[in-house]
Amino acid sequence: MAVDYDPVTRRLGETALGTARGRLTWVDADLRSPSWTRQLPAGRFDAALSSTALHWLRGAELGRLYRDLARRLRPGGVFLNADSLSYAPDARRVRAAAATLAQRYRERRAPGRPRPAETWAEWWDEIRHDPALAAEVRLRDERFPHEHLGTPTPDLTGHIRRLRAAGFREVELVYSRGSSRVLVAVR
Ligand SMILES: C[S@@+](CC[C@H](N)C(=O)[O-])C[C@H]1O[C@@H](n2cnc3c(N)ncnc32)[C@H](O)[C@@H]1O
Repeated sequence: MAVDYDPVTRRLGETALGTARGRLTWVDADLRSPSWTRQLPAGRFDAALSSTALHWLRGAELGRLYRDLARRLRPGGVFLNADSLSYAPDARRVRAAAATLAQRYRERRAPGRPRPAETWAEWWDEIRHDPALAAEVRLRDERFPHEHLGTPTPDLTGHIRRLRAAGFREVELVYSRGSSRVLVAVR
């Protein structure tokens, strides 16, 4: 099952992957909705994966989503979350050191080297000018009127705490580069 509430990215995903030889079903569901799991087939899953999607959710929505996932994963099932998960508000020195490292990394991309991949804003700008995606872009703007939430979303420790509270027995950070992280949680 591939869940996505953005008609643009869902269409791109479906166009790129199709059904993966009958193994993939695309689901139009809003993870913020308490009833989103009704759109899934009955039964328990072995694994769930999210990549750079959950930073749109507020604390209460994230806690509810993690409880939904805990209910729908079999014992021993695995949840992986790859996302930008921020530092704790009081980790000022760590955040400053990470910002310095990120700045140095950007400076190393000296002129003359191959240009880095396009920015997120440039990518969306191209999508917005593609007439083939006009209907999807209109619906997306209705569903996601703001690009990002105005309020801070949970930080790394907030994710770990909510996963444990939802019933995941093992929760570990298995990759971290700056605030780009991968969390693994075992049911
Ligand atoms: C940055 S994209 C990442 C897409 C893909 N997972 C990847 O890693 O390439 C974020 C995705 O999260 C989806 N998303 C954000 N909020 C969502 C929600 N409330 N319900 C379902 N999908 C959501 C967006 O539609 C978008 O496809």
